[in-house]
Amino acid sequence: MSSRVPFPARSTTTQQTDMTDKTLFEPYTLGSLKLSNRIVMAPLTRNRAGAGLIPSEHAATYYGQRASAGLIITEATQISADAQGYQDTPGLYTQPQIDGWRRVTDAVHAKGGRIFVQLWHVGRISHVDLRPGGTAPVAPSAIRAATKTFVNNGFHDVSEPRALALDEIPGIVEDFRQAAANAIAAGFHGVEVHGANGYLLEQFIKDGANTRTDAYGGSIENRARLLLEVTAAVATEIGAERTGVRLSPVSTAGAISCSDPQPQYDYIADKLDALGIVYLHVVEGATGGSRDAAPFDFDSMRNRFKKTYLANNGYSPELANARLIEGKADLFAFGRPFIGNPDLVERLEIGAPLAALNPATLYGGGAQGYTDYPTLADSSAR
Ligand SMILES: Cc1cc2nc3c(=O)[nH]c(=O)nc-3n(C[C@H](O)[C@H](O)[C@H](O)COP(=O)(O)O)c2cc1C
Repeated sequence: MSSRVPFPARSTTTQQTDMTDKTLFEPYTLGSLKLSNRIVMAPLTRNRAGAGLIPSEHAATYYGQRASAGLIITEATQISADAQGYQDTPGLYTQPQIDGWRRVTDAVHAKGGRIFVQLWHVGRISHVDLRPGGTAPVAPSAIRAATKTFVNNGFHDVSEPRALALDEIPGIVEDFRQAAANAIAAGFHGVEVHGANGYLLEQFIKDGANTRTDAYGGSIENRARLLLEVTAAVATEIGAERTGVRLSPVSTAGAISCSDPQPQYDYIADKLDALGIVYLHVVEGATGGSRDAAPFDFDSMRNRFKKTYLANNGYSPELANARLIEGKADLFAFGRPFIGNPDLVERLEIGAPLAALNPATLYGGGAQGYTDYPTLADSSAR
C-alpha cells in the first residue's frame, strides 16, 4: 500500500446529499450496531492460542489495540474439537474458551469497538495429529487437498479425509448453532460464518471437493445446502442482524476448484438475502492474491444481496474510496495492513505511512510481532 495518499477526511456534516459525500471515516449503521467508520479488520489467524485452545493473554491487548476499526472480525475460531485444522487456533466450544474470549470482547468494548467472531470448521484442511483420537479429517467427499497445514511446528501435508455420513451433517449444523450462542455469551456483537477459503462449508459449495450424490452434492442447490442450513441455524439462534457470512467465490485457497462459480454464488447471494442476514463479506479474487484471478461479476452478488456488502482483498484506501463512491460496497475489510498498524484507521485518515508486517512472526509465538507494533503516537514519542 502506498503511503501519504491524500484522502477525504471525515465529513463535517452528518447530512448526506449525494453519493460523493461518502467517506470511509463516517459512521455506518450495521443492523442495530453503530460502527464508527466503514473500515473493518479482516479475520487473521495468528496461531497463538494457549493450552485448551483458549485465546492467549496477549489476544485481549492485540484486539483492544485495533478497536478503532469500525468492526473487528476475529481470527477463524473452531466450533468444536473436530473442526480444528491448524496448531494453536482458538475454539469457542468450552467454558474456559468462552471466558478467554470474554477478556477480548471486554477490551474491545472498553474502547468503544465492535467485534464479531469468525466461526470455522476446517473440514479436509487438517491433520490426524490435531484431531480427537487421531482420526481422519471429515469432508464432503474423500478427496485429499493438495496443500499443507501448520502442525507440529511446521508445514505438513494435510491428511486423507473421510466423507461425512448423511446422518452426521445435522451435528455440524448444531455445532455452529451452539458456537454462535457461546459467542453471545462471550460478549461478541455477532458472528461471521466462515464460508470461504477452502474450508468445510466451501468444500461443500465447490464441486472440486464435493462429489456427493445425496441432498448435499450435485446441483447448485444441493451444494449450497449446508452453508444455508448453518446460516439459518445461527440466525435463528442469535438473530439475523447479528449474523454475517464470508464467501470467496473464485479463490483457490485450500487447493479447491469450482466449475460454475457465477451461477453457484448468485444463487447463494439470493438465498442469503432471503435469510435477512446483516452482511455478506466477499473475498474478491484469489485470497491475498490477484483481484482478477478469474472472471467473476462481484457486482452481481452486491446487487442480489440487499443489506450490507463488505468487500475484501487487496484494497488500497484509494480503491476502497472509489468503490464506496461508486456504490459498489458499503464496508471494506483490510487484512494484512491491520497486522503492523494497530491504528490503521487513524493512519489512513491522515494519509500517514503504513508500517510493514514481519512475515516471520505471523503464525505462532507470543507478544513479538503481535502486540508490539507501535501506533504513530507511540513512534513519535520515542
Ligand atoms: C496471516 C493471515 C491470516 C489469515 N487468517 C484468516 C482467517 O482466519 N479467516 C479468513 O477468512 N481469512 C484469513 N485470512 C485472509 C484475510 O482475511 C484477507 O482475506 C486477505 O489477507 C486479503 O485481504 P488484504 O489484501 O486486505 O490483506 C488471513 C490472511 C493472513 C495474511
